[in-house]
Amino acid sequence: MRYGRFDDARREYVIEQPATPTPWVNYLGTEDYFGIISNTAGGYSFYRDARLRRLTRYRYNNAPFDLGGRYMYLRDGSNGEFWSPTWQPTQTDLEAYECRHGLSYTVISSRHQGISAEALYFVPLGTSLEVWRLRVRNGRPVPAQLSVFSSVEFCLWDAQDDATNFQRNFNIAEVEVEGSVIYHKTEYRERRNHFAYFACSMPLAGFDTQREAFLGPYRGWDRPTVVERGESANSIAHGWAPHGSHHVRLALAPGESAEVIFVLGYAENSKDDKFDPAGSQTINKRAVRPVIEHWLKPASVEEGLQGLREYWDRMLGKLAVSTPDADTDRMVNIWNAYQCMVTFNLSRSASFYESGIGRGMGFRDSSQDLLGFVHMVPERARERMVDIASTQLPSGGAYHQYQPLTKRGNDEIGSGFNDDPLWLVLAVTAYVKETGDYSVLHEQVPYDNVAGSEAPFYDHLRRSVNYTLERLGPHGLPLIGRADWNDCLNLNCFSDTPGESFQVTENRSGSSAESVFIAGLFALVAGEMAALVESEGGSSWAAPGEAERYREAATSMRAAVAEHGWDGRWFRRAYDFFGEPVGSSANDEGQIFVEPQGMCVMGGAGADGRARQALDSVRAKLATPHGIVLNQPSYTRYQLELGEISSYPPGYKENGSVFCHTNPWVMIAETVVDDGDAAFDYYKRINPSAREAISEVHRAEPYVYAQTIAGPDGATFGEAKNSWLTGAAAWNFVAISQWILGIRPDHAGLQVDPVLPAAWDGFDAVRVFRGATYRIKVCKVAGGQKSRVGYLVVDGKRVDGNLVPLAPEGATVIVEAFSTPVGPA
Ligand code: GLC
Ligand code: GLC
Repeated sequence: MRYGRFDDARREYVIEQPATPTPWVNYLGTEDYFGIISNTAGGYSFYRDARLRRLTRYRYNNAPFDLGGRYMYLRDGSNGEFWSPTWQPTQTDLEAYECRHGLSYTVISSRHQGISAEALYFVPLGTSLEVWRLRVRNGRPVPAQLSVFSSVEFCLWDAQDDATNFQRNFNIAEVEVEGSVIYHKTEYRERRNHFAYFACSMPLAGFDTQREAFLGPYRGWDRPTVVERGESANSIAHGWAPHGSHHVRLALAPGESAEVIFVLGYAENSKDDKFDPAGSQTINKRAVRPVIEHWLKPASVEEGLQGLREYWDRMLGKLAVSTPDADTDRMVNIWNAYQCMVTFNLSRSASFYESGIGRGMGFRDSSQDLLGFVHMVPERARERMVDIASTQLPSGGAYHQYQPLTKRGNDEIGSGFNDDPLWLVLAVTAYVKETGDYSVLHEQVPYDNVAGSEAPFYDHLRRSVNYTLERLGPHGLPLIGRADWNDCLNLNCFSDTPGESFQVTENRSGSSAESVFIAGLFALVAGEMAALVESEGGSSWAAPGEAERYREAATSMRAAVAEHGWDGRWFRRAYDFFGEPVGSSANDEGQIFVEPQGMCVMGGAGADGRARQALDSVRAKLATPHGIVLNQPSYTRYQLELGEISSYPPGYKENGSVFCHTNPWVMIAETVVDDGDAAFDYYKRINPSAREAISEVHRAEPYVYAQTIAGPDGATFGEAKNSWLTGAAAWNFVAISQWILGIRPDHAGLQVDPVLPAAWDGFDAVRVFRGATYRIKVCKVAGGQKSRVGYLVVDGKRVDGNLVPLAPEGATVIVEAFSTPVGPA
């Protein structure tokens, strides 16, 4: 069952009924100011940091699930009836409803008793504000006397404190009202130099700034007293809950329309110029007034929207494909790229599943997010890499996360995850291959943000690799530390205290638990390092013989995997604290894990035929119609020596769900062994668009990946949770675009190395790479079951192999790639 449809031409998802199984969400903002918005206008906004600069309040895990947001009410003066044009919070039966989630904007339209309304929400580029544009049309044969009420609840900035510290909070709220603008200035009197504002384009019939005055005692958002009565209370908040509501009256003749614009924004003043007049306690509004005035004009709003459209044209213009499969085109060209941008911006901080207070930017997460984003705005990727590397510890190890406002690493969600440093290498090599900007390797970057510790960026990569090599266990495999990519495989934790965090509790010492997954990742990374050193200019930052050292390290790691990481039919997952295998047929449960199957093959292990065997085992034991599950059988009991993984009920999260982040590794591995059918089949199983028709099962948004889909051992097999902020975005993008479609940046040029499904004849693509535009046509020479590109014709000239040589900036290059059968037809 569907709840909406894709409108590809407008790059929108159109939701056709408000009561979706979960809130179906979109993001506003692309730079500093961000908001989350659901299909019924729920959500909140913040400036840069979802925890420390929260502008509007939102209560997670509410009932109904999604309550609190950018609400408006319409009231009919003739009978006193009122409703929300975005359905929530009044949940009035609407004659028509439609929500269009577009790229960084959302439009919700509805009709009730002949009154049509359309609410547009977006953040103009280069601003720290959001625009709400409400259009109302009287479709009745008689005049309508209407009232519009806006409503937001202000957050007292630090969202964690806001939700807990009531003995203080109920005393401190302060506002100012000037004309049609409500200013929220809690704590501005003391150490904050910032405030929020909520402005309206029309003269006000009234306003409210105290929540209780607006709602009335013991009332909720579905029937505020003020709206019911049709009259604001003109309340000024002193303490309690600061709120912003404007009241505007509209008299509309039959067929007449009106437009009301609201602007909600964030502004800062310099410390010495906070008040006007100086010495008073009144906000200095000199700088913000012209900004507000500008964005309240309809023409500015149109221009802002146009600017946003052009921005997305530029972003999505970097890669556009036309394949025989509509779900592929839609995800690659629009939604997956869009999700990659959002995860790059927000890491795991703020979604409808991440509360915005728990997690900052992850070292590992952000490094991987960059893989799906770097082609869009490489300069921002570069800055991000430097930020991440600046938090790296001198040992080469990493804090697990850092705060975006301070850019400092912290231990709040643990440290000592031994895979962390390796992901940084993948990020940097992806960046360098994309841009050819080798200068970044010379950039001076500190360790742990300590002044004076700066070393060339390349030194950080070297220490990342050495970090693994200095921590090998008894089988020559990397020690796992607190955990590896799977945060929940806590082999040294031994936690039996209820509620204790698996991620931060002290580990048992003297451990020799090892990770086969890190071994595979290491082999991949060491190969990337060798290629980097051998690339142009390598001798200027690397030591002589370094490339060979990396290749040898990769080779001996693969040998250790072959000797101790192979279980007979698949790769083992790990060795536990006691040296017992994990992910082995010798185990009762958790006999096979997906992560090492994909990653070891990506790292070049199993070239002797074991790769194929491991992937056959994935198909036989882990693949389901809803994707590839993480492990089988799921753990049915808590296992002290395995940690959090076994804390989850079978089929959920890291214990036997389809963890969408890991599936692309198997897709890529299948391309390594030339199986385009298998790779594409796995791709389609979790492609959100391809799952749209089973939305009642999938339940999460059909336009973005979710972190997890319940596995067959769970009661709700096929149900997705934790949509939007997940490494699944970047890795699925990489798998489809770089490995299945095979358009892959390399040091010396653009590789065109597709591994396609047998039924495809080819596809077309446009890729902007290092300033040149490549128009690519891939054709199969013969309908072979398995084929790889054998030669290219580049601007009419034959080039053997699959590497398109670099073209000068500004050039347009016509590439034809001819795919010839490999292996048995
Ligand atoms: C979450 C984390 C990620 C981790 C994964 C598996 O997605 O953000 O860092 O790798 O879970 O545990
Ligand atoms: C929990 C989650 C995991 C996530 C981690 C982050 O362990 O299961 O997915 O990565 O928390 O701290």
